[in-house]
Amino acid sequence: MEKTLVIIKPDGIRRGLVGEILSRYERKGLNILKMEMVDPDKDTLKAHYHEHVGKDFFEELIQFMMSGKMVILIVEGNYAVETVRKINGKTNPLEAECGSIRGDFANSLTENIVHGSDSIENAQKEIEIWFNNKN
Ligand code: RTP
Ligand code: MG
Repeated sequence: MEKTLVIIKPDGIRRGLVGEILSRYERKGLNILKMEMVDPDKDTLKAHYHEHVGKDFFEELIQFMMSGKMVILIVEGNYAVETVRKINGKTNPLEAECGSIRGDFANSLTENIVHGSDSIENAQKEIEIWFNNKN
């Protein structure tokens, strides 16, 4: 079964949206395989967002991701990677469709509530980064 890595970012925790977000994945028929509340360190976040190292928004992104606790999840199901990204909505809040998590709750390019892996390969790498191979 396809697996993907989801992060409920610190703004999602602060705004009390954890239950709402989990419910959206569950109602679609996806299965929450693992879930943990974490206080991320900078090295793990850099490994996770290595593709964005050097971009002008990178430092802001890392500072935001370190601004509070977050929830990490392994979500599985049919086409889990693509399905989660559809439920999450587009990165730019102006383009995120109403009915998606970002479309309904985000109004910032940086603080956008959730992360979902963008490919099966990256999902495997990110699951290793966050769950230390113990899945
Ligand atoms: P994510 O990786 O978090 O699921 O988001 P994504 O694929 O939709 O977007 P990506 O391009 O991978 O960007 C990663 C995260 O960086 C922040 N960002 N800020 N200020 C900016 O220009 C900017 N662009 C991206 C967002 O938090 C985005 O989710
Ligand atoms: Mg991304």
